[in-house]
Amino acid sequence: MWFIIGAILSFSVTIWVYALKNPKYNGKLPKGSMGFPFVGESTQFFAPNPSFDLSPFIKHRILKYGPIFKTRLVGKPLIISADAELNHIIFQKEEELFECWYPETFRKIFGVKSVGSLHGFMHKYLKNMITNVFGIESLKNMISEVEVTSTTRLKKWASHNDIVELKDEIANMIFDLSAKRLISYDPEKCGENMRENFVAFIQGLISFPIDIPGTSYHKCLQGRKRVMRMLENILKERQQNPREQQVDYFDFVIQELKKDGTPLTQQVALDLIFLLLFASHETTSIALTLAIKFLTDHPHVLNQLTAEHEGILKKRKNKSDKISWNEYKSMTFTFKFMNETLRLANIAPGIFRRALRDVEFKGYTIPEGWAVMVCPPAIHLDPKAFADPLAFNPWRWDEEQRCDGASKNFMAFGGGIRFCIGADFAKLQMAVFLHHLVTNYKLKPIKGGNIVRTPGVQFPDGFHVQILNKD
Ligand code: HEM
Ligand SMILES: *[C@@H]1O[C@H](CO)[C@@H](O)[C@H](O)[C@H]1NC(C)=O
Ligand SMILES: *[C@@H]1O[C@H](CO)[C@@H](O)[C@H](O)[C@H]1NC(C)=O
Repeated sequence: MWFIIGAILSFSVTIWVYALKNPKYNGKLPKGSMGFPFVGESTQFFAPNPSFDLSPFIKHRILKYGPIFKTRLVGKPLIISADAELNHIIFQKEEELFECWYPETFRKIFGVKSVGSLHGFMHKYLKNMITNVFGIESLKNMISEVEVTSTTRLKKWASHNDIVELKDEIANMIFDLSAKRLISYDPEKCGENMRENFVAFIQGLISFPIDIPGTSYHKCLQGRKRVMRMLENILKERQQNPREQQVDYFDFVIQELKKDGTPLTQQVALDLIFLLLFASHETTSIALTLAIKFLTDHPHVLNQLTAEHEGILKKRKNKSDKISWNEYKSMTFTFKFMNETLRLANIAPGIFRRALRDVEFKGYTIPEGWAVMVCPPAIHLDPKAFADPLAFNPWRWDEEQRCDGASKNFMAFGGGIRFCIGADFAKLQMAVFLHHLVTNYKLKPIKGGNIVRTPGVQFPDGFHVQILNKD
């Protein structure tokens, strides 16, 4: 029980105030238990779950209270929604009935001026700035860079029959690629390994916010400090020695900072680059690692995926060409495979909002000011939405088999105006990497590959594999 005591001691004053004074409301709250004072039901919420199935915390409460229930996590009353219809309303009525709101942990880690904390005009403005680097038009120019990165790494991993820890290697690969785009980061030249600072991130983000050495939350905060220092130094240096040409995304942001009447401030700019450095690799690398794990577990899926990619090569006139945008768009089975991977991966265990006013739904009231957590796994693993939900079955995404409302039931990238801006970038990287993996290499799992959710997904033993040339 030491961590409960630790948690109580380290809670900030604001959280105490929240806990002591629940917001006022009229109407009927959803059912549910608020657990112990202050701690609420946090220990159950954060209990490790070593499976692809819904965590017992959510499962038991849905059975007991229905798909919309209240609880208290780290001092904050919260309504959890496992109801597809309510989730849809929450996404569609962003800034009208609900607004993006993330727990204190997020704001401490991403900064108070990050995309998730900004609303209305500033949110739109930042979204446009991000689309400039990760939007479709930009991706069309990036495809060959993604391809070169994939082929170089695969070649390296296969070259001396070494055992490779895939999760980490993939995260490094994706980080190097996007950090090069964003800040011209070069791991060879940079004295400090920037990626290391992001290692504990997924665990730390949705974790018990105890800021003492050893906790993932603490590691997260330390990581943020170091990365922010590096970014501040780059900014200072570039402001002192302005570059003629725009080489990376940071140059673009600095140009924007200089414009007359720009809404961008230095703090917003730094928080933006920081968020993109994180978001662009940690999520995608988990998804790609799991995709490969699913391929090793399901040979018939691997066969069909290989057939699709060999088909693309057969049709290609000039064998030394790179993957074209049209070829990428033609990878239909790959897209089903990626959807299925993301459905089971449940990389985002919760998407947080706050009610802007009292919201009535199915006889319950979500009181103004209360936090709401959309729970994507509860929908992704609901047999009514996806038959036999624990089965890995990419064919369920076939047109003729897909049940109605498939898109309402699939929220791996969120929904509404906050839909993930990097979704296309993530898919492009996964598809291009898989193309080269399945056409040129065989994979031999050695050990690891198991997951645990706390509730952010981790690979406690890594995923160690050998990558062998096909012939
Ligand atoms: C498989 C990989 C990914 C998954 C599962 C994922 C998931 C998500 C989810 C669920 C949201 C919605 C959050 C909310 O509504 O509060 C989101 C938003 C966002 N994602 Fe991703 N993401 C992925 C990859 C990426 C990449 C590669 C980037 C960067 C380029 C990125 C950048 C963002 C940004 C900037 C937002 C905030 C959008 C906003 O608030 O308007 N994501 N992501
Ligand atoms: C195939 O592409 C390569 C490089 O893009 C080029 O050098 C070569 O001439 C092309 N071959 C044919 C037959 O078009
Ligand atoms: C994957 O999911 C998205 C979102 O629901 C959907 O629009 C898309 O059609 C799906 N892709 C395939 C190939 O089924």
